[in-house]
Amino acid sequence: MTQSRRALNVADLREAARRSLPRALFEFIDRGTEDEVALRENRLAFERIRLRPRVGVDVSIRSQAVSLFGREQAMPLAVAPTGIAPLAWFDGEVAVARAAAAAGIPFAIATASLTAMERLAAEAGGRLWFQLYAFTDARITVGLIERARAAGFEALIVTLDTPVFPNREYNLRNGFAVPVRMSPRLALDVLGHPGWLMSVLLRYRLRGGLPVSANLPEPYRRLIARDPDAVAASRSAALTWEDVRAIRDRWPGIFMVKGIMRSDDARRAVVCGADAIIVSNHGGRTLDSALAPIDALPGIADCVGDAATVLMDGGVRRGSDVVKALARGARAVLVGRAPLYGVAAGGQAGAAHALALLRREIDLCLALAGCPRAAEISAELLADCRRAVSCPEFSNRKQAGGDAWRTPRG
Ligand SMILES: Cc1cc2nc3c(=O)[nH]c(=O)nc-3n(C[C@H](O)[C@H](O)[C@H](O)COP(=O)(O)O)c2cc1C
Repeated sequence: MTQSRRALNVADLREAARRSLPRALFEFIDRGTEDEVALRENRLAFERIRLRPRVGVDVSIRSQAVSLFGREQAMPLAVAPTGIAPLAWFDGEVAVARAAAAAGIPFAIATASLTAMERLAAEAGGRLWFQLYAFTDARITVGLIERARAAGFEALIVTLDTPVFPNREYNLRNGFAVPVRMSPRLALDVLGHPGWLMSVLLRYRLRGGLPVSANLPEPYRRLIARDPDAVAASRSAALTWEDVRAIRDRWPGIFMVKGIMRSDDARRAVVCGADAIIVSNHGGRTLDSALAPIDALPGIADCVGDAATVLMDGGVRRGSDVVKALARGARAVLVGRAPLYGVAAGGQAGAAHALALLRREIDLCLALAGCPRAAEISAELLADCRRAVSCPEFSNRKQAGGDAWRTPRG
């Protein structure tokens, strides 16, 4: 049995990933920014939410299928864009995308991904979304949109929450950057993880070198190997809602805006033509003082109503987190680190295991909460729901007076 197969939950997969990967790479995946307040809060906010289970419901048949953009999918999940899986496992991004396709859920590839979007589209199968960062040079942005369109991606996600590069101090301490530049410190770190050295680093070396951002056009692709900072600086910090609208006008497919944490921004995104809002604080990797997306979600979902699909991500590690997000108004959630831990621990099988664990936990939660269909989850399931739960049978009998509501025993 591989490390990943033995994992009973996402936390076990995280631990397996921690052991497998060089520390610098594990921390790049796992950590947040500055004092990691947002990272912690993403979990704490989920833990604060309590469900109010319903009993006496037939839960023998359960379904976690939800409809997303007119298509039914097997689980209320999608894989969030992270782009780093090829460093966690050889060709790891194709591996995660295949695991997502097998699980019947969408997979999002990042602008900064180390796998070319055309290759992913040709080899992964399933529902594919492309995440876009806008560049100062509009020709790059337009080029990426055109390529995603030509490669047949179903949806375009514009990420708005990272106008500048965040403060990730552990990266500076570890000397880690993408593309990877070997330093004596990093070399020692890698030597301490011989499994990763042999199965990832050496295999790339034999194929010509470690992967670089495969979606950047030339000359940026070559430049990034020499000067990653110059490429990072070429991302636009001046993006406004006008640009979002212009991007939308160029994209004929499903259009999503990621990184929304306020109702007024959600409304602006809808006005700009967004089909979906992704409530997200980038997994606690950008503004360290940001609130948790699960806490931002109810207000945004209320405000958006039926005008757009509301998705969320950040801190999802248990099936019950997914159920809580649905109860707070999300149609589905995205998971970033969970499948990354899985792929680091066991390649495609590990990523599939991460999704299967979540699937099993969602199923259990639906049964134990007395809500057999994920598509029917509502705020009524939340312990702090202020809406009175109607119980017509009880009220009618109570009005009739006395003990009339009790069913007489035979
Ligand atoms: C290693 C890593 C890299 C990421 N890179 C991107 C990115 O390039 N674009 C983007 O929109 N979000 C990126 N994200 C954020 C994810 O899409 C997602 O919002 C976040 O991981 C969700 O939180 P979770 O990891 O707790 O599930 C990244 C996240 C991680 C962990």
